Amino acid sequence: MTLLDPTWAALLYLVAAVCFILALRGLAAPKTARRGNLIGAFGALVAVVTVFLSTELDNVPWILGAIAVGALVAAPVSRRVKMTQMPQLVAVFNGVGGGAAALVALLELAHNDDPWVRLAIVFALLVGAISFAGSAITFAKLQELMTTRPVLFPGLPVVMGLVVVLAIAGAAVTIATGSTGYALVLLAIGLAAGVLLVLPVGGADVPIVISLLNAFTGLAVAASGLVLDNVLLVVAGTLVGASGTILTQAMAAAMGRGVTGILFGAFRGGSTAGSTTQSERPVRSSSPEDVAVLLGYAQRVIVVPGYGLAVAQGQHTLVELATTLEARGTEVVYAIHPVAGRMPGHMNVLLAEANVPYESLKEMADVNPEFKTTDVVLVVGANDVVNPAAKTSPGSPIYGMPILEAGDARQVVFLKRSMRPGFAGIENELLYEPQTTLLFGDAKDSLGKVLAAVKAL
Ligand code: TAP
Repeated sequence: MTLLDPTWAALLYLVAAVCFILALRGLAAPKTARRGNLIGAFGALVAVVTVFLSTELDNVPWILGAIAVGALVAAPVSRRVKMTQMPQLVAVFNGVGGGAAALVALLELAHNDDPWVRLAIVFALLVGAISFAGSAITFAKLQELMTTRPVLFPGLPVVMGLVVVLAIAGAAVTIATGSTGYALVLLAIGLAAGVLLVLPVGGADVPIVISLLNAFTGLAVAASGLVLDNVLLVVAGTLVGASGTILTQAMAAAMGRGVTGILFGAFRGGSTAGSTTQSERPVRSSSPEDVAVLLGYAQRVIVVPGYGLAVAQGQHTLVELATTLEARGTEVVYAIHPVAGRMPGHMNVLLAEANVPYESLKEMADVNPEFKTTDVVLVVGANDVVNPAAKTSPGSPIYGMPILEAGDARQVVFLKRSMRPGFAGIENELLYEPQTTLLFGDAKDSLGKVLAAVKAL
């Protein structure tokens, strides 16, 4: 006996599905992202409650216990995680989703003898396991628990080929026999495939792989929805699969590379991590007071924020500096590169935290023609996104990536701590150009000193 009949349950699932679609719509723009997230969470709540009210569940205390443990672990972790660690968190959540889909599939095998349902089971098992193991490796790379460089060993392509053959054979045997023993072997093959897929990917490309694995989890969940005959799981899984695929392609395009290049580029010798060269050539460094004079008497300033701004947590000081300059009559805009930082929308979120109005954020295509008529570009903790090697050096890991053309401006000021390269690990010629000045130090400290000096002008 259940509290809700199937018609009501279907109606509530429809409500949840609509919430998920509205959530994705909301998440597409920074202004509506927070609301989108809440709508999605509400949809998930409706879905979970509907399952409890419309299904005769066994082991309810265990289920409630698992939900409580999950909530107790995830809530504080999510609250405490730093913005720069968000990709790791997404990797963990994503991996857990894939693992759950694989476990559901494993348990359902015993109850199903229809070969088509078994096909869905085997798909969820394999893809969920790949996503779980791949996400664990991406987490380890991003958390620097292991090297962030591509990991290659002799014979890796052969081992990968072998795993693919074993996966196909294992899937066929599991569908034919319905044996849990074979399914466990298939699970192990999926875990191995996930590890082998991510090991050769270099650190800079790992966030893109997270997005790809996210799409895998979505597909595994959709397949488990087919197995459980649950329409909402099919809808939610397909939405995640589709949006993850689109995001993967958008991120890869913004970095000027293909998805296969990211996954298998290291085999061709084109390391996706690059080298860490630092030359001894002289650069022009200056004091906070010099930078304050440049900024204070400029008519137009473009700020290029990057990963270092997030590390330094200098966004509030940066905005205070911009406001002070605006009060002096200087026009200030922010140029946002699509892969500045370490995750999509990283700079938008960071600057929104400091209440920068969205109208002040300019996308790369819109702002690039404006550099020529700009007095000063203030590059705060960014490097690769303004590196001209992307245009001039075939063979460079970032060659082909569209960049912010900061070098076109009259003056360029870099705020960074050292001459160390950015994430791609390559030298930035712009640092040595005659119009470039460097102010060394932590971005927040430097911004504070420049702000004080501008106020004293
Ligand atoms: P990066 O090229 O990584 O440069 C960051 C700069 O910040 C470094 O030069 C570093 O120099 C400086 N820095 C670090 N901590 C600092 C601090 N506390 N104070 C001042 N400066 C600091 O960053 P970017 O220009 O934002 O480019 C992003 C990179 O990440 C690209 O290579 C992109 O392809 C990659 N990536 C991005 C994404 C997404 S979706 N956003 C995904 C994957 C990969 P010092 O060490 O000398 O201070």
